[in-house]
Amino acid sequence: MLNVLSSVSFKEELAKPLRQLLKALVVAATAVNDNLEKAVGEQSVDFGQNASGDFVSKEDVTAQKIFSEALKNSGLVKTLVSEESEFPIQLGGSDYSVSLDPFDGSNAFKFGIPAGSIFCIFSGAETIEGFGGENAIAAGFFIYGRELELVLCVKGQTYLLTGNNICPVKELAIGERFLSVNLSNFGDWHSGWQNFFREFVLKSNSGHHHNQRWFGSLVTHTKTLIVSGGLFAYPQDNRDGFELGHLRLIYEAIPMALIIESLGGAGSDGQNRILTKIPAKTHEKTPLVLGEAPLVAQLEDYVSRAQNRE
Ligand code: F6P
Repeated sequence: MLNVLSSVSFKEELAKPLRQLLKALVVAATAVNDNLEKAVGEQSVDFGQNASGDFVSKEDVTAQKIFSEALKNSGLVKTLVSEESEFPIQLGGSDYSVSLDPFDGSNAFKFGIPAGSIFCIFSGAETIEGFGGENAIAAGFFIYGRELELVLCVKGQTYLLTGNNICPVKELAIGERFLSVNLSNFGDWHSGWQNFFREFVLKSNSGHHHNQRWFGSLVTHTKTLIVSGGLFAYPQDNRDGFELGHLRLIYEAIPMALIIESLGGAGSDGQNRILTKIPAKTHEKTPLVLGEAPLVAQLEDYVSRAQNRE
């Protein structure tokens, strides 16, 4: 994959420091992939909870260490905002800031579902407010497995990278159209989200048939969306701690929205475009819907109509 990153097209288009930073991320992800042991059925060790309240796994700890060291050694990163660090980490560089979910999908990984790492590169992010989508200049996610995969969005162009292959993608490919949402929380969602799913997506003969999948791994869901179309959603709900959903704005929603929008899709919190939201807190959560733009627009319409009735 490193060879591919040095390929002519990237060389011509990308500034040297950005290419170096991407290479540092690929080297770190390769090390994380090599370090993964088969954890299926393993007794989990208690590493406590992170700042968002998620249980921390051995893989989260290892990936955080590998990525933060690689980013520090690159000398290119000023501030790192990571899911696995309560506070932003100052790394001493000055070119870019990075947000990171070092090991996404760790709960699903225990059962053999692919997990990965999500990153976003920002220019001019001096404070937490600077980690908004307007300053995001590149984003991507790795998927771990027998062969490391990278989905990379840079300069508005998204690429799928594996081994020595680089495949530019123009738009969301509309195939089986997967619906990726944890329906077990349906009873706790706000009425706009419930109405959209009940009346628009799930209704018999609605003409909007989707195939339901819930892996519990955002990287796997987003890849599914890119290669088959459909919708991913994690709404806010009435459970304690889920008032703004479960996913984090800076290192989960913004990078995925940047990628999906580059492919003609949309990323929203049900009311606002994710890429226009200004973060106020490091681990701020946000409701999230990603997918085909007309479907996301319909959802926003249902949410707004429900709000007008309240
Ligand atoms: O924290 C991130 C994450 O594990 C995502 O990868 C996944 O989409 C989601 O949380 C799963 O949440 P839940 O277990 O509530 O369905």
